[in-house]
Amino acid sequence: MAELTKADEPTDATPNVSEVDVADVHSEEEAVAALDAHVDRGEPILQVRNLVKHFPLTQGIVIKRQIGAVKAVDGISFDLYQGETLGIVGESGCGKSTVAKLLMNLEQATAGEIFYKGQDITKLSGKALKAVRRNIQMIFQDPYTSLNPRMTVGDIIGEPFDIHPEVAPKGDRRRKVQELLDVVGLNPEYINRYPHQFSGGQRQRIGIARGLALNPEVIICDEPVSALDVSVQAQVINLMEGLQDEFNLSYIFIAHDLSIVRHISDRVGVMYLGKMAEIGTDEQIYDHPTHPYTQALLSAVPVPDPDARDHRERIILTGDVPSPANPPSGCRFRTRCWKAQDKCAQEVPLLAVPERFKSSDSPAAHESACHFAEEKDVVHAG
Ligand SMILES: Nc1ncnc2c1ncn2[C@@H]1O[C@H](COP(=O)(O)OP(=O)(O)OP(=O)(O)O)[C@@H](O)[C@H]1O
Ligand code: SF4
Ligand SMILES: [Mg+2]
Repeated sequence: MAELTKADEPTDATPNVSEVDVADVHSEEEAVAALDAHVDRGEPILQVRNLVKHFPLTQGIVIKRQIGAVKAVDGISFDLYQGETLGIVGESGCGKSTVAKLLMNLEQATAGEIFYKGQDITKLSGKALKAVRRNIQMIFQDPYTSLNPRMTVGDIIGEPFDIHPEVAPKGDRRRKVQELLDVVGLNPEYINRYPHQFSGGQRQRIGIARGLALNPEVIICDEPVSALDVSVQAQVINLMEGLQDEFNLSYIFIAHDLSIVRHISDRVGVMYLGKMAEIGTDEQIYDHPTHPYTQALLSAVPVPDPDARDHRERIILTGDVPSPANPPSGCRFRTRCWKAQDKCAQEVPLLAVPERFKSSDSPAAHESACHFAEEKDVVHAG
């Protein structure tokens, strides 16, 4: 695969661990967390700042009147670093796909900024936007509906070259598509076949090959394995991990399955009702969550070990997720939170490292949007 840029040597942006004084760190777990806290991840490739997407709610057929808005994404900030995977989890409807579409510029942001290598892509248009979009690609959830059944695999994978002929001039396209088929583990001779002649896992490989065609740096993966059988999920995840190493890709990986997200992610963000509740390394979020919502999510993950199951504390959330058109005041989680107090209705908790953990090396020292953030011993996924 000569023409896709490979991640051969460490670059300036390659994460490296700065010198950390571990003399005072007692357990191996604390040592890992202390190292994580000091990892120099380089410059972020994507910086999302106060991103907002409100979908207008209208009334009337002829004269449409706006009567409100669905606050699908309501002020989200996070960074994505070169070569890392940032997992995003949260219940259905919390705004994960809307974030993905905003990053892809498939939806226009109501407010906020998305910096790609320092340039705000929400303000770009025309040629400048086209050039940036080449570097940010997407893998979709459902390989059964996302591939046009009337196009051959060669045409599907090669379609992005119509928009960016500079990547593969016409005479070179067939060879390039065959290379891509090879990279994702499919027989290059299948180039003239149609999507219905492939299994679900193979179709997702076709989707991945298409995502790679323009040699992007960032790939947004919205539930990329949710529609696949469990046995095939692992193969596709392994393929994605291999490609990440080979081409130094940065992934945003959205999924429901907390175990899969832990497996593939370096860092994880937990969303609730259009907001980021908690964000940190996979160890910080899965083993040391401080936000009650994350604790509740993790306590519901099935545990295969019967001993661990007997000792776990299940946190059952009561009440439904409120409507994003009319979210609760203050903390959005307060209507379902067992720790809620008056302050939670009055003040929006900011996503920040809680004051009490700020000067500690504890793995609890990560960003959490809760006025009363503290660790709780919940049995976590694998
Ligand atoms: N085009 C739209 N118009 C109006 N509301 C929308 C639109 N797209 C999404 N929404 C609403 O925004 C909210 C967030 O939707 P989104 O699809 O981002 O959630 P999600 O976290 O991806 O959910 P799931 O896990 O089910 O895929 C939902 O309440 C949804 O109904
Ligand atoms: S701010 Fe209050 S309601 Fe929100 S998660 Fe923390 S304790 Fe619960
Ligand atoms: Mg979604």
